[in-house]
Amino acid sequence: MGTIEGPTEISSRHLSTRMSTLRPSPIRALLRLVDQPGVLSMAGGLPALSALDADRVRAVIESVLDHGGALGPTALQYGPTEGVDPLRRRLAGMLSAELPTDADDILVTTGSQQGLDLLARASIDPGDVVVVEAPSYLGALQSFSVAGARIVAIDGDHDGIDVDRLAAELAGGLRPKVLYVVANFHNPTGAVLSLDRRIRLVELAEHHGFFIISDDPYGELRFAGPPLPSIAALGVGRPVSIVRLGSASKILAPGLRVGWMTGPPALLEAAGRLKQSADLHTSTLSQLVVAELLADEGAQRAHLDRIRSRYRERAGALSDALGADLGERVDFSPPTGGMFTWVTALDGTDTVELFPRAIDHGVAFVPGAAFSVDGGGFTGSLRLSFATLDPTRIRIGVARLIEAWRP
Ligand SMILES: Cc1ncc(COP(=O)(O)O)c(C=O)c1O
Repeated sequence: MGTIEGPTEISSRHLSTRMSTLRPSPIRALLRLVDQPGVLSMAGGLPALSALDADRVRAVIESVLDHGGALGPTALQYGPTEGVDPLRRRLAGMLSAELPTDADDILVTTGSQQGLDLLARASIDPGDVVVVEAPSYLGALQSFSVAGARIVAIDGDHDGIDVDRLAAELAGGLRPKVLYVVANFHNPTGAVLSLDRRIRLVELAEHHGFFIISDDPYGELRFAGPPLPSIAALGVGRPVSIVRLGSASKILAPGLRVGWMTGPPALLEAAGRLKQSADLHTSTLSQLVVAELLADEGAQRAHLDRIRSRYRERAGALSDALGADLGERVDFSPPTGGMFTWVTALDGTDTVELFPRAIDHGVAFVPGAAFSVDGGGFTGSLRLSFATLDPTRIRIGVARLIEAWRP
């Protein structure tokens, strides 16, 4: 006779030990409260609904399905693991505007999140050190943790990761295998890594032999200030390894789940082999849709202009409202692109405690602790997304936040 086990015993018995690195966080549990009727949410990292052009996508899907000719509807067929030719060629053309890139140098991924997961598993042995900027994008932390990395967080500021601090740690014996960086409009801080720091990072990578993962889903969403050269461009001609991750999520639509990766051939090839076991390939239909959407350069330029001007307006509304009403009590930098503003309380407010009060007042944000490597930091900060709500709702949201802020 077998014994009868309770559901908890059964489920934990079947899980691998690595699942203990992916425990549900208390902050994530809090965030379930966000989707309540009447709550204005500035919590999600979602593009504005009005930035998702369903009409354009619908027309392109029809045309892509008609394309196969004698080959039949290739968009509905299996495809190569590294991605379909039309998309790889299109992306190579796009990326070559800054850095000569061959279609063969591109691995198409199922969102850039898959790129992070594949890279982490392809390069990290348990205990290997990965350096990240603190606070950090949670999805990257999860990928590195599951791969067994020892994550070392280096604080950042308005100009991105503190490179002097990193240099001091390296001089003190820190030996990272990988450094992960979001140089443009960081998630969650919105910071842009300064040119000086970009150059220093490349020099440090060269000197200490770690490779850089440069994750850039927001680079095209610049609405103020001049663009800076990418870390990959600064590394040209130097013996450094730099992987670039890109994504269609913020420039077209996240639901298409299309991202891409370029980098040293050995890493790309290893990531491709892992991808085969993960999902064989990214949706052929989605890839061909993205290729076709990007091929209409005029329409895509106009689409990006629309998104940028919408986000500029929303970011301005958020900065004005925060500055006018919370000015003395918080520190924040008016964003120059991307989707996020990082707000730090100067009056000792704990944002985990503030969160339920804010929900009661009908507004939501993400407490800073959600972006901390150990879950315990940044209790005085919060992330606001200015992408999702229109300016009127942003102003109402900030007014509600202020009401909640008052003890
Ligand atoms: C910094 C960063 N990297 C990667 C991703 C993953 O994006 P996707 O998988 O949709 O390309 C996100 C999503 O918000 C992000 O903020």
